[in-house]
Amino acid sequence: MKIAILGGTGPQGQGLALRFASAGVPVVLGSRDAQRAAEIAAELNAQLALPESLIEGQDNLGAVAAANEIVMLAVPYSAHDATLRSIKPLLGGKILVDLVVPLMEGDPKRVAMPVEGSATEAAQALLGEEIPVVGALHNVSAATLKHLEKAINCDILVCGNDLEAKNKVIELIKQLDVQAYNAGPAESARCIEAITPILIRLNISKAVPFTHAGIRIWAPGS
Ligand SMILES: NC(=O)c1ccc[n+]([C@@H]2O[C@H](COP(=O)([O-])OP(=O)(O)OC[C@H]3O[C@@H](n4cnc5c(N)ncnc54)[C@H](OP(=O)(O)O)[C@@H]3O)[C@@H](O)[C@H]2O)c1
Repeated sequence: MKIAILGGTGPQGQGLALRFASAGVPVVLGSRDAQRAAEIAAELNAQLALPESLIEGQDNLGAVAAANEIVMLAVPYSAHDATLRSIKPLLGGKILVDLVVPLMEGDPKRVAMPVEGSATEAAQALLGEEIPVVGALHNVSAATLKHLEKAINCDILVCGNDLEAKNKVIELIKQLDVQAYNAGPAESARCIEAITPILIRLNISKAVPFTHAGIRIWAPGS
C-alpha cells in the first residue's frame, strides 16, 4: 500500500517516510514544490540504501492521487485548512490521517485549539463525513523518527469517528514496531493534540535529563 505524506519535506514527514520505507511501505512525499519533494525523496532513499527506492516526491495534489488509500497531513497548523481545501476533491475513497498539532503561533509550549475542538475535528468538519479523518502520530518527535537505529520510544494514540478507517491506520502504524491504541472518537484529539506542547515544554526544560520524550501507556504488573 503506497501512502502519501503531505508537507512530507518537513522534519516530521521525512522521519515518517524513513520509518515507513524501512518497514517496506512505499511513500510519496507531497510538497508545494514537486522538485523539492523529489530531491528530498532522493536524499532519503540514499540514506536508506534499500535495494529498491521506496520514497518518491510529487506536489501535494500528485501525492494524494498516487496514494492507494492513506494520505497523511504533516503541514504546520497555519496551513492545515487551506491544504485540506485544496486536496478535498481528490480525497474520495481515501482516509486522511491528521497529525497536525495546533501549536500557538510563536510559542510551541502552548496550543491554540480551533473552535471545532481539535485539528482532527476541524479536518473532519471541513472534509465532510464521506472522507474519514483519523488523528494519529501527534506525540512522536521527528528526532525520534529520524534515529532509525533506535526503536520508537513511545506509544501512538489513534482517534477518529470511523472504526474501519481507524483500524486500518492502526495496522499501518504497527508496522513501525510500536504499540498503537484506539483512543476513541475524533473528540479525543482534543487531549492527544494538547499533550504535544507539554512534551515540548519538558524537552526544552533544563530541569529534566532528557529530550525527545514521548508518552507510553503503562499497565502495573505488565
Ligand atoms: N516536528 C515534530 O517533531 C512533530 C511532532 C509531532 C507532530 N508534528 C506535527 O507535524 C506537522 C509537521 O511538522 P514539521 O515540524 O515537519 O513542520 P514544518 O517543517 O513546519 O512543515 C512541514 C512542511 O509543510 C509545508 N508547509 C510549510 N508552510 C506551508 C504552507 N503555508 N502551506 C502549505 N504547506 C506548507 C512545507 O513543505 P513544502 O515547502 O515542501 O510544501 C514544510 O516542509 C505539524 O503540524 C506539527 O505540529 C510535528
